This record gives sequence, C-alpha cells and structure tokens, in this order.
Amino acid sequence: MSNSLFRKKSIVNLLQDAQDGLSDAHGSGGLKKVLNVRDLTFMGIAAVIGAGIFSTIGQAAYDGGPGVIFLFLITAITCGFTALCYAEFASRVPVAGSAYTYSYVTFGELAAWIIGWALILEYSIGNIVVAISWSSYFNNVLVGMGIHLPAWLTTDYKTAQAAYDAAVTAGTDTSALAWATAPTLGSWHVIMNIPAFVIVILVTILAYVGIKESKKSANFMVGLKIVVLMIVVAIGVFYINTDNWTPFLPNQFTGVLKGVSAVFFAYIGFDAISTTAEECANPQRDLPRGMIYSLVICTIIYVIVTLVITGMVNYSEFQHVSDPLAYVFDKIHLEKIGYVISISAVVAATSVILVFQIGQPRIWMSMSRDGLLPKRFGKVHPKFQTPSFSTILTGVIVAIPSLFIDSAIVTDLTSIGTLFAFVLVCGGVLLLPKLENKAAKKFNLPYINGQIIIPVMLAVFCFFFRERIVDSFTNLTHESHQEILFIIFLVLAVAITIATAIKKLSLIPVLGMLCCLYLMIEIPAKSWIVFFGWMAFGLAIYFLYGYRKSKLAPKAA
Ligand code: ALA
Repeated sequence: MSNSLFRKKSIVNLLQDAQDGLSDAHGSGGLKKVLNVRDLTFMGIAAVIGAGIFSTIGQAAYDGGPGVIFLFLITAITCGFTALCYAEFASRVPVAGSAYTYSYVTFGELAAWIIGWALILEYSIGNIVVAISWSSYFNNVLVGMGIHLPAWLTTDYKTAQAAYDAAVTAGTDTSALAWATAPTLGSWHVIMNIPAFVIVILVTILAYVGIKESKKSANFMVGLKIVVLMIVVAIGVFYINTDNWTPFLPNQFTGVLKGVSAVFFAYIGFDAISTTAEECANPQRDLPRGMIYSLVICTIIYVIVTLVITGMVNYSEFQHVSDPLAYVFDKIHLEKIGYVISISAVVAATSVILVFQIGQPRIWMSMSRDGLLPKRFGKVHPKFQTPSFSTILTGVIVAIPSLFIDSAIVTDLTSIGTLFAFVLVCGGVLLLPKLENKAAKKFNLPYINGQIIIPVMLAVFCFFFRERIVDSFTNLTHESHQEILFIIFLVLAVAITIATAIKKLSLIPVLGMLCCLYLMIEIPAKSWIVFFGWMAFGLAIYFLYGYRKSKLAPKAA
C-alpha cells in the first residue's frame, strides 16, 4: 500500500513533522509565529489587489461594459466557496503548504505533487505577470519625472516586435521604438525588461531577510493602496455620468465572460496566506477569518471601482487601455491624480510580488519535508528563519523569465493552474473524514445537503445555456477546441451532480468545484495545451525523483 501512488500522509504525522521542525535540515528551530488576523487579512489584500485592478480591469470593462461587475461578483462567489474550503482545511491542517498539503492528506501523494506543481503556476508564473505590469507603471512614473530609460530595456522581445510591426502597418514613426533602437547580435535584437528583473530581485532580498520585515512592508503597502483606491472613488464619484451605464451589458453576457481570465487573475492571492500557517499565532482561528475578510474587502473595492470608472468614461474607450485608473483621470484633465495612481500601482504590484515570493518557498519547504524535493528546499536560515534556498530559487525562476517573456500567455496559465488547485481543494474537503468533536474546532464549514439543490441548479444552467449546448455538439468538428472543453465541463457537471444526489454531498464544496471548473473552461484552449505540457513535465520529475525519495516510499532492506 505504501508503494502506491495514492499513499497519504496522515494529519497527525503532518502536525508532528511541523512541530519537530523537520523543515530545518539542521534542526535549529522552526519559523517565527508572529502573524495575527489583521496581518493575515492585510497579507490577503496585499496579494489580491495588484496588477488586476490597476490594469486588466480595462480590457474586461471594454468587453463586458459596466456589467463586468457581475463577473467580479460571480468570481468572488466562486472564490468565496473555495475560501471556505481552504478555511476548513486550514483549521484542520494548520501547517504551511497551501493546497499541496491539503491534497496530500486527502487524495494522496500523486495528486499532492500535481497540485504542488500547479501552484508554481499561481505563485511563480503569476508573479512574472505582476512584475511585467510593475515595470510598465514604474516606467510611467519615471517618464513623469523626466527620466527616460532606453525603450529596449523596458519591454520584451515579442511585445517589441508586435509594436514595431503594428507601427509599420499603420505607417507611423518607428524610430523611437524598442525594436528599432535595440542593439543587435546578428539578427537577434537585444531587448529585455530590466525594471521587472530588478524589482523581483529586490523583493526576493526582502523575503529572504525575514517574515517580520516582510509583514511590516506588506502592511504599509496595503494601507497605501487602499487609501489611493478610496481617493479614486471619492473624487471619481463626482465625475460619474450615469448615461455611461446605459447599456449596462452592451455585449450581453458573452462579452462579460470574455474577461474571465483577467478578472479571476485579479482575485488570485487570497489563498496565499494559507502558506504562512506556521507563522501564525493562532492559525485555526485566524486563517479562515483572514481569507474571508480579505476576499470580502477586495470584492467591495473591485465592484465600486469598476462602477466609478465605467461611469466616468464610456466602456467603449477602454480598448487596449492597460492603465485604466490613471486613464480616466487623464480624460477629465486631473493628470496629477493619474500620476499618483501610477505611483500607487507600483506600490500595489510590489506587495503582490512580495506575498507570492513568500508563498512559493513555503510550498517547496513542505514538499521537501515530505521527501518529494531535495532537503535543501526545506532548509531554514539560522538567523533570518526563512526558507533560504527556496526563497533564492523562487527569485531566480521569476526574475529571469520577467526579463524576456510577454505576459499574455502567462496570465491564462496562472489562472488555469490556480483554478485547478481550487477544484482539488474543494473536492478534497468532500473526502475529509467526519470529526467527532466539532466543538473543539475554531472553524466549521457549514453542511448544507446538496442532494436537491445541485440537480435543480444544473437543470437551470442547462436551460439558460441550451443554445450553447446545442451549438457545442453541432460545431464539434469544425469549431475551436473551446466547444470540447464546454462538453467536458457538462460531462463532469452531470457526474458531480449524480454523486451529490446519491451521497448527499455538502453544497458549498460542490458549488466551489463546479464554479471553478466552469471558469476554467472559459479560458482559451490554446493555453490549456501549454498547461498540459507543464503538468507532463512535472509528472516526469515526480517519477524520476519524488516517487522514490518520498518519506512514504518503502525503505530499502
Ligand atoms: N490578484 C493579483 C493581482 O491582481 C495577482 O495582481
């Protein structure tokens, strides 16, 4: 049994390992327990509000109109179901590791590895997107100060080439563009995003030096970005023209759904705080609260900010606008406010990068503890008490791609990887053993029988989506692979509904799974192919290393 791919770690062993400080190869103690509910809520907000609200909201508002607030609400509800499942897990398994640790105790080792591998997409690959966004805002700030970095040092190869081609096609001046000004090595244009690289290195140093220092910086940055967003709303509200809210859904719901990847990206991060469980003073009580509070606060902010900016400027003006919050103030000739917003976008993105740079090493630390990664990944620095090797490695694997990669594909990849982790967390809750003594637990996921509600909801879904269902089947052979994804979703939804009806499964985790699966299939099929490639690479590593080195692998005689 212990040789099986489904070998599981028991919760008792998990807690024991954490207590014994196995994360530290030299046994010199564990991590500092300094975080309280306020810190956790702030860390959640620090991770969530970043590149999403300051940039991706623009294109989503263009596609969906003011009605994109519905997508923010739907995504928030989806994340809310998942947050409750995370909270249930966090209150039972209060050690670092996030969804990885949770799936180890429920689904077993192989699933845990897959999740750990998918989480690299959320934490590290996601950070590449944020670092690139940081760089473009930082460049705006520098330009406002009269400092002009060479264009070829502030972008990536593909984006520069696309901008040049577009300018040539349009017949506009290309002489100042990155592609035209870059030095060349043979036919290769030397183009790299230096600010994105530098910010990742600086944040990595901060994460290396200590959780307490990181916590203080995160609190400061969160305070600042909330104040700035409040200013946006307080001033913007006087410039709302309610005519801009009609039509509220200019492209119907189809237009709204185009923003799934971007809007979901804006929510990514509330789960990152579960990776700091071992640094919480009272994780069982505070982790659930921190996650839910940060999610609620962010949703309120997103909905209000979206209503304000789509009221100030007509949605049709947001096409390709990557700095919508600054843009709306420039439009009403309050450029100074636009400039302050650009500065705060830089601060916001910095805090997001920080939280993820803290989260990734702690997941690797847990994987190393279990033997799935080499011991160095779990090594805790004797002085700073942070996972030193993993922190540096995270810095390297985020910083180097930030120099060269373009952010479009990585945004989709981050969203798929994260939703995939969420599906497994929700599914995992359904498999947790029943507890005898619930009163002793500080958080309990409310049980609502899904037996009737889920089949009714599926029937309602099928009614509203009846045209798409028919289209998917009739266009299967010559349409995009998106239709195949939709049919796969339908099959899974029917299977989950039958299981719920038979086994009286708990409503919240089932809804969490279904909502996350639905959002996943709205992401372009071409990004799924990259996702499968990434997962195949991860599986190869598992079978070559982790499967044999795991703590649960049978010992050689
Ligand atoms: N939610 C984070 C952001 O918007 C990743 O930047």
